[in-house]
Amino acid sequence: MFESLEILPPDPLLGIAAACRQDPNPNKVDLGVGVYKTEDGKTPILKAVQKAIDNLTASEDSKVYIAPQGNADFLSGMTNLLLGEQGNTDRFVSIQAPGGTGSLRIGSELIAKSNPNATVWASDPTWANHVPLMKSAGLNLKNYPYYDTANSKLKADEMLETFSKLGKDDIVLLHGCCHNPTGEDLTPELWTQVADLAVERGFTPFVDIAYQGFGKNLEEDVAGVREVFAKVPEMIIASSCSKNFGLYRERTGMISFLSENAEKTEACRTNALSIARGIYSMPPSYGAALVGLILKDAELTKLWHEELEEMCSRMNGLRTLLVNKLNERGVEKDFSFIERQNGMFSFLGINKEQIDRLRNEDAIYMAGSSRINIAGISNTNVDYIADAVAKVL
Ligand SMILES: Cc1ncc(COP(=O)(O)O)c(C=O)c1O
Repeated sequence: MFESLEILPPDPLLGIAAACRQDPNPNKVDLGVGVYKTEDGKTPILKAVQKAIDNLTASEDSKVYIAPQGNADFLSGMTNLLLGEQGNTDRFVSIQAPGGTGSLRIGSELIAKSNPNATVWASDPTWANHVPLMKSAGLNLKNYPYYDTANSKLKADEMLETFSKLGKDDIVLLHGCCHNPTGEDLTPELWTQVADLAVERGFTPFVDIAYQGFGKNLEEDVAGVREVFAKVPEMIIASSCSKNFGLYRERTGMISFLSENAEKTEACRTNALSIARGIYSMPPSYGAALVGLILKDAELTKLWHEELEEMCSRMNGLRTLLVNKLNERGVEKDFSFIERQNGMFSFLGINKEQIDRLRNEDAIYMAGSSRINIAGISNTNVDYIADAVAKVL
């Protein structure tokens, strides 16, 4: 039965993390896996989350299944976070799903079910998991031009040109903010142009938002998503609480559908639930219960906002610091793009040989694309990183 199966190679990023863990060099730096870290390299439970855990431990009196659609406080809190007042419409519905990935998968399965001829267009490059995830759902996947790695800037004209030829069988996968892996986001003007093209050409935007609050702040990070939402007849949004609530392992996410009328929205809801029923049956409770508790309590929400702002400003401060440190070393390459970009990632824009040298000579680990996790930098290691990068340049 298993004869035809071959052993698969490990996920490249997880392999980098494992190699870094085993490296005995005391100065080693892990800029690989996309997890937020504090100055001392930890990923602690947020204080707001810990308080919600305490509340939940005291109040939870059963482990019976929750409603298939999910925790009501979670769904309304998350809708408000994403869309504000605009989310109060019978054209919009959400269901809780296991993480951003589970949400993306339910969205993809629903696309495959409703339109087997659909083509999903993903940015070149995009988050590595988008590709196998969408292909496993049976979707046709193509790339649209997005990032010019050599010049560290958006390929805006080529992207819009591609979108201007799409039609009603096309889905455009957009990163809501903090584009992974490049850190380069659409400008407000580009969001407007994309929204207008979606209306004109009839393609469906599918927004993946996994870093709300990590770019500028909770509101500005979703301004583009809200503009698209206000204009288009149909849209899909997959959101994740892994990063901004630090709930990675609790698999907390939401998949949402905007459609033309209440009846079609109910069709989206019931079909999404039926897809989920066939995969994992019922959503996990814990993470969503914690987020629900935080978002319906003003004090916990305030505490969470403060913690989120702290994470965001730490990463933005590190971006500036790294650029300054590289400039101090007289590097010729212009790294100012790192400061302009958003969220946890940027491409350093160095070649494979340079990436290998950083790893072999200085135990600095990053993805093969030169993507770095900004949160892996600290005030303590930034000089070491800047020295090593300047050396390999
Ligand atoms: C762009 C993007 N989308 C979705 C996710 C999904 O995250 P999770 O499934 O852990 O919630 C990630 C996580 O790295 C991501 O970077």
